[in-house]
Amino acid sequence: MNEHQTQSDQPRLLPAHLRRAVIGAPMAGGPTTPELIAAVGEAGGLAMIGSGYLDAAGTRAEIARVRELTDALFGVNVFLLDRADSDAALAAAGGPDAVARYAAAIGPVAQRLRVDLSRDPQFTDFDQDATLAALVADPVAVVSFTFGIPGADVVRALQEVGSAVVVTVASVADARRAVEVGADWLSVQSAEAGGHRSTTTVGEEPDNITTVALVRAVREALPQVPFVAAGGIATPDDVAAALVAGADGVQLGTVLLRTPEAGTSALHRAALADPRFTESRPTRCYTGRYARALVNEFVAEFDAVAPAAYPHLHLLTGPMRKAAAQAGDVEVPPLWAGSQWRAADAYADRPAAEVVAELWDSATTTT
Ligand SMILES: Cc1cc2nc3c(=O)[nH]c(=O)nc-3n(C[C@H](O)[C@H](O)[C@H](O)COP(=O)(O)O)c2cc1C
Repeated sequence: MNEHQTQSDQPRLLPAHLRRAVIGAPMAGGPTTPELIAAVGEAGGLAMIGSGYLDAAGTRAEIARVRELTDALFGVNVFLLDRADSDAALAAAGGPDAVARYAAAIGPVAQRLRVDLSRDPQFTDFDQDATLAALVADPVAVVSFTFGIPGADVVRALQEVGSAVVVTVASVADARRAVEVGADWLSVQSAEAGGHRSTTTVGEEPDNITTVALVRAVREALPQVPFVAAGGIATPDDVAAALVAGADGVQLGTVLLRTPEAGTSALHRAALADPRFTESRPTRCYTGRYARALVNEFVAEFDAVAPAAYPHLHLLTGPMRKAAAQAGDVEVPPLWAGSQWRAADAYADRPAAEVVAELWDSATTTT
């Protein structure tokens, strides 16, 4: 137990308690490193471990690494995967045949990369219960959820050990549901966000709403609820616009991808700087769930034919994405990027603490 992380007699951590109300996005799969978390925390913000592709032991190990590096507070983000919802989405998309047809469509790409797509991609259960039990046994300041609304019992169990509970929502309706189960605050994520959109079902078609419009709508519907805004925030003007629209803070993803502390691959970093890319777009083509990426050849060709089958497509395309990245082939792997990836150029290679301080201070300091 790390005594400074949580004390259940202390108020749970809200954005307003931070020296700078800047959340370093959980970016599962490599970009968010313990070093990035420490840097954002020490700059007065709060960053989150992305446990989405880790099991409970992996999450515990990551927590231990962060604690070795810093005394700053941090959070852990958990994916809420629901097998019944995935099954329903797959059935609506045409069942296993739809995945087989997609495998056939992307087959030539896999062949070119000498990857076998013939395996039947199964649903893998990431055992969220074990991760949640680990977080109750050894609490952190904040636990955030993505892809679903946790049960009120889960929220209560985390709050009882002192953790603030955050739910990532992509609509006003989901914001209301998150408040109903007792969430302490929200991460309100618009269609501008890089990476996956946190819809609460696989099958739904999310809207194309901007961050400012969604923030206004959530603030109007829920005047008292603390929340941070996520999606396309990469300049002081973006931060200021989100705050004016009603957010209590901001969550940064893409603008942190090119900081030295991030674990972003060299290929991904180079692509974010490459003028060859002119568009980022939400697409199901990599995982079966909408996620915003730069439009490379793979997105351009397969976006339109990808079924709503998550995590089936995630598992199907995984080896191919890895092989392409290893081969330095920028036209195949996902190059996650929010709508403001080009504006984020201004902060490329700058230490994360500087990015956090400059974005927040420039937006909030009146002279
Ligand atoms: C590479 C990458 C990985 C991401 N992984 C996660 C994740 O594991 N969990 C999560 O809640 N959000 C994830 N997101 C979304 C962020 O939390 C955030 O909503 C988004 O980055 C904000 O938009 P921006 O990228 O335009 O700043 C990811 C975003 C990116 C760019």
